[in-house]
Amino acid sequence: MKSLFDQTKLAGLQLKNRFMRSATYDGAADSEGKVTDELCRIYKTLAQGEVGTIITGLTAVTDREQSYPGQMAIYDDTYIAGYKKLTDVVHAYGAQIILQLACVGSQCIPNALEGKVMWGPSAIEDIGYSTHPQEMTKEDIRFVQDAFGKGALRAKQAGFDGVQLHGAHGYLLSKFLNPYYNQRTDEYGGHIENRARMVLETYQAVRQKVGPEYPVLIKINCDDFMNESGLSFEECKYVCRRLSELGMDAIEVSGGSRSSARNKGPSRLSKRGPQSYFADYAAELARELPVPIILVGGNREPEALTRLINETQIEYISLSRTLISEPGLIRKWRENPVYEAKCGYCNKCYNPGGTKCILNQK
Ligand SMILES: Cc1cc2nc3c(=O)[nH]c(=O)nc-3n(C[C@H](O)[C@H](O)[C@H](O)COP(=O)(O)O)c2cc1C
Repeated sequence: MKSLFDQTKLAGLQLKNRFMRSATYDGAADSEGKVTDELCRIYKTLAQGEVGTIITGLTAVTDREQSYPGQMAIYDDTYIAGYKKLTDVVHAYGAQIILQLACVGSQCIPNALEGKVMWGPSAIEDIGYSTHPQEMTKEDIRFVQDAFGKGALRAKQAGFDGVQLHGAHGYLLSKFLNPYYNQRTDEYGGHIENRARMVLETYQAVRQKVGPEYPVLIKINCDDFMNESGLSFEECKYVCRRLSELGMDAIEVSGGSRSSARNKGPSRLSKRGPQSYFADYAAELARELPVPIILVGGNREPEALTRLINETQIEYISLSRTLISEPGLIRKWRENPVYEAKCGYCNKCYNPGGTKCILNQK
């Protein structure tokens, strides 16, 4: 019988349990996206709280885009020393730390764009953000893929245990997969084999920089859940199968974006309701593909989660909001499996001014 506290190996990494902190924008980097004492404190608390693997908040791979306030960045070598401090802090408590690499595309704050670009696969207004991206040229595409690769190499040099590509929630890579936002007529648009090209090539650019052994993960939408035609689950399966064939080390299954329709499926940030709301999608992917699957979204009771990992082939459980409100939650669960997480899924922590639980205001 599988336990949430099994020690497992993922792409050569020794993990002390099956829990991950899902990527969470902390808003605690400095104005250049560099590591601060506050950022180190947040990650130290998570590691002390016995989270086995911590995935950082989305981290900008290029300075051409507008970042969120306090967003982490990794677009040149001057970032490496600060990240070394961060990875050392986490490693001191026996946890692993994975850097999430991202381009935000049209999901940015539009009033601060001076001197910055807003990229999209096509020049189509972002429904969720009311922003108007410019269509990427092939040169832009190559630039971004190269930036992901270089960011990944810097992450490796800074002591991160792996990287995760942000391919979910309507950020740039996710937009390429989406037929509503990607209306290109070249080899990056059209049927899913073409729409997947950006994600597959970005993965290959990263792999080429970090080598065959270094853990590379992706977070992806099972479905975009839009009224307009977004990425479907069948198409998601195709992308995941191709990524798995190319050597992707693990896939975290999420869904939806700010462009999603409420009645089409669970949101990436569904409020308190059914637990583990992407479980059916993740279970199907886990059944069909050899790559380890990580489930995110509304995971909140060890008993139910234990059943889930035993009744399906899902290997890892990741959490965001519950760990914002209680960074020590995994230790509490280890000591008391019926401990009830305090998070009410109110989403007040999701706040561009900085990530904070209203239960824990300091
Ligand atoms: C404040 C906040 C910031 C987030 N930042 C990111 C992010 O940087 N990258 C990402 O992939 N997901 C991000 N997410 C989504 C979470 O990783 C996760 O997919 C979602 O919250 C559902 O998991 P949960 O029910 O355990 O909170 C964020 C969520 C919250 C609440």
